[in-house]
Amino acid sequence: LVSLLLSWSLPISAQAAIESVPSNVAEGSNVLLLVHNVPPDLHAYNWYNGGDAKDPSLRILTYSIQNQTTSTGPAYSGRETVYNNGSLMIQNITQNDTGIYTLQIVKQSYEVETVTGQFRIYPFLPKPSITSNNSNPVEDQNSVALTCNPETQSTTYQWLRNGQSLPESGRLELSLDNRTLTIHNVTRNDKGPYECATWNPVSANRSDPFTLNISYGPDTPIILPSAPHYLVGATLSLSCQAASNPPAQYFWSISGRYLQSTQVLSVPNINMSDNGNYTCLAYNNATGRNRTTVKTVTVSESLTKPSIHGNNSTVTENEGPLNLTCLTNDTGISIQWIHNGQSLQLTERMALTQDNSTLTINPVRREDAGAYQCEVSNPVSHNRSDLFRLTVNYDPSAPGSSGLSGGAIAGIVIGVLAGVALIGGLVYFLYVRKTGGAGDQREHTEPKASASKHSQDACTANKINETTYSSLNFNGQQPKISTSASPSPTATETIYTEVKKE
Ligand SMILES: *[C@@H]1O[C@H](CO)[C@@H](O)[C@H](O)[C@H]1NC(C)=O
Ligand SMILES: *[C@@H]1O[C@H](CO)[C@@H](O)[C@H](O)[C@H]1NC(C)=O
Ligand SMILES: *[C@@H]1O[C@H](CO)[C@@H](O)[C@H](O)[C@H]1NC(C)=O
Ligand SMILES: *[C@@H]1O[C@H](CO)[C@@H](O)[C@H](O)[C@H]1NC(C)=O
Ligand SMILES: *[C@@H]1O[C@H](CO)[C@@H](O)[C@H](O)[C@H]1NC(C)=O
Ligand SMILES: *[C@@H]1O[C@H](CO)[C@@H](O)[C@H](O)[C@H]1NC(C)=O
Ligand SMILES: *[C@@H]1O[C@H](CO)[C@@H](O)[C@H](O)[C@H]1NC(C)=O
Ligand SMILES: *[C@@H]1O[C@H](CO)[C@@H](O)[C@H](O)[C@H]1NC(C)=O
Ligand SMILES: *[C@@H]1O[C@H](CO)[C@@H](O)[C@H](O)[C@H]1NC(C)=O
Ligand SMILES: *[C@@H]1O[C@H](CO)[C@@H](O)[C@H](O)[C@H]1NC(C)=O
Ligand SMILES: *[C@@H]1O[C@H](CO)[C@@H](O)[C@H](O)[C@H]1NC(C)=O
Ligand SMILES: *[C@@H]1O[C@H](CO)[C@@H](O)[C@H](O)[C@H]1NC(C)=O
Repeated sequence: LVSLLLSWSLPISAQAAIESVPSNVAEGSNVLLLVHNVPPDLHAYNWYNGGDAKDPSLRILTYSIQNQTTSTGPAYSGRETVYNNGSLMIQNITQNDTGIYTLQIVKQSYEVETVTGQFRIYPFLPKPSITSNNSNPVEDQNSVALTCNPETQSTTYQWLRNGQSLPESGRLELSLDNRTLTIHNVTRNDKGPYECATWNPVSANRSDPFTLNISYGPDTPIILPSAPHYLVGATLSLSCQAASNPPAQYFWSISGRYLQSTQVLSVPNINMSDNGNYTCLAYNNATGRNRTTVKTVTVSESLTKPSIHGNNSTVTENEGPLNLTCLTNDTGISIQWIHNGQSLQLTERMALTQDNSTLTINPVRREDAGAYQCEVSNPVSHNRSDLFRLTVNYDPSAPGSSGLSGGAIAGIVIGVLAGVALIGGLVYFLYVRKTGGAGDQREHTEPKASASKHSQDACTANKINETTYSSLNFNGQQPKISTSASPSPTATETIYTEVKKE
């Protein structure tokens, strides 16, 4: 039953209809009003420009099926063509072609079937252009309204900034139709470029980029070089830079006295009296704002060669203090010490005075020997003293710098002293027991044969003697015969032993 009903309903649904191809028609182009489901046994087609097929003044044309002829009506414009399937083509569409079109289908039975069709006409959009209500807005002061022209109906407007859609900002506001963009309190970053894009169903277009000329600044100027130091006789050259649109005008002054109105201040052959605070004022004649920066210029004389005075140039290792003083008559300088051509590495045995002028080494070690120089410098000049050669006499068999602290050295010395005292006591005790207390006994551990003299003066006079002596006196009670080294027997016997400082 259902399929029977469906088969019955089919012919009923096959009604004539008009399709507009395309449905959105661009001005100047063609449109085809295509007729679907044309019934058989036709006599003629009548096309009307309007919704009323009874008004003869609206008739465009009539097409006779039998004669295959077209007769035009009052509404014929010369741009219409009908085909034998009933379809109507209209060329070179204008805005005046807008409206409803009616087709009257006349059958051979003179029955009449009427269908209507419609299409929308859109203009081809011209290239839009952007206008601004303020050609020279001032930063943080003005708002600017940009408008996309011309205004056309059924057109969508969109704004682009720097090639991208507008950022979220409370300072940006669009009109209801999006045709006008208002930028509140412009900043220098709002300059764009801006573009306006337009489109409708048949076309799209985009404006040329539009850049805002926003006046801003000047910002606080920067003076270069940042630390201006000059040698007497040089040419002072200071450059002032301030972000500003239009470019700032610059004015230089020193202590309120006008100098130049150039971006770069140039003063040749300066001397000490040109020391001072230089002011750069940057002025923007569009914003009416100005800003200043002050820079202190230091003019220095070239430095004379310093000299080193030392309280001693030949010292014995472990003695001190050795004082080296850098002598100079220049002021406003810093002093550095150089040892064997390299910057002096301070150790805990060394001390510098506050101004680095005096170097104290205490005690002196063998590695301190060598050539010393002091260098005086100011920001524009430096000079080095002649070499001061320090000779350190030491015992080459004695260990060099152990790197131990004074406390550790003291501990070791005390420990060795105690150990030697113990051994010495033991040896003496055994010896006395064995020999029945022989006479004067000496023990030398000095490594150098030439150092075997026991005279303290002789030892210190020797260049390579670096040992120090500690003597332990043991007073024996036995009145024994002394050795040949001892000219006369004495009640007191002395044993010498040597302690090396490490
Ligand atoms: C067709 O042509 C005949 C004679 O040529 C004419 O009488 C008749 O009116 C025409 N029909 C139409 C619909 O124009
Ligand atoms: C279309 O119409 C315009 C004016 O309405 C005319 O200037 C133009 O020549 C026409 N184009 C064609 C192809 O007919
Ligand atoms: C469109 O219609 C108006 C009035 O109806 C007429 O003045 C104008 O000339 C027409 N334009 C064209 C291109 O036909
Ligand atoms: C205006 O633009 C916004 C996005 O920028 C869009 O959401 C809105 O629909 C547009 N309005 C009109 C009228 O085009
Ligand atoms: C613009 O700046 C003024 C003062 O600087 C301020 O009162 C105002 O709220 C600002 N407007 C916007 C939209 O930010
Ligand atoms: C320069 O300015 C500094 C700091 O403002 C001030 O201490 C100094 O006295 C000034 N020098 C001159 C020569 O005015
Ligand atoms: C403002 O300054 C600019 C750049 O320094 C200059 O070109 C312009 O002539 C000045 N305008 C006026 C009115 O002084
Ligand atoms: C700089 O601006 C201040 C106010 O901001 C004004 O008093 C002064 O006269 C201006 N100076 C110059 C040289 O324009
Ligand atoms: C220099 O040092 C040596 C050994 O350290 C010492 O004998 C001499 O007296 C010192 N000379 C001066 C001038 O200090
Ligand atoms: C060496 O310098 C120290 C400290 O700087 C000082 O106390 C000492 O008197 C100076 N000795 C000599 C001999 O100049
Ligand atoms: C410092 O000046 C005095 C006297 O003017 C001079 O004798 C001495 O050599 C100068 N010293 C140096 C290091 O230039
Ligand atoms: C002292 O010398 C050290 C490097 O040895 C240097 O860093 C410092 O600036 C100098 N101080 C003075 C006042 O010259």
